[in-house]
Amino acid sequence: MKPLIALPLLALLAACDSAPPVTFQDASITLPDDPGELPDLAGRDAVIANCTACHSPSTMLQQPRVPREKWESIVGKMQSLYKAPVDAAAVPQIVDYLVAMQDDAAGDVSTP
Ligand code: HEC
Repeated sequence: MKPLIALPLLALLAACDSAPPVTFQDASITLPDDPGELPDLAGRDAVIANCTACHSPSTMLQQPRVPREKWESIVGKMQSLYKAPVDAAAVPQIVDYLVAMQDDAAGDVSTP
């Protein structure tokens, strides 16, 4: 009985030998264009440090214009729902930045 079991095993091993050798090549990919560049306003560093690890700036830039309270709740949602490790001390700066960023984009920096 033993040779009967050994034969298919041998055939299998022989087949392994004939497998083509693995070769590696250099490859490069082109990432999609993300024009999202956060405007240079106070608090930008806090936003980069706390917010851009998970998504690109365009996630923030492409939001409809919303009031401060909404930004506060979005930042809160990032923390509670998505477990974003946001520095609590930086939250006011981040919210100020997000409000200013939208004011800036609207071309009306004087709006409170
Ligand atoms: C731990 C990862 C993580 C971090 C850090 C993070 N987010 Fe998010 N964020 C998410 C996920 C997940 C979503 C939902 C899926 C998506 O839209 O990409 C999201 C969605 C959003 C949205 C889309 C609108 C919405 O309400 O869902 C905005 C705006 C946003 N985040 C802003 C921020 C800001 C501002 C910060 C910094 C305070 C931040 N995020 C930090 C994970 C994160």
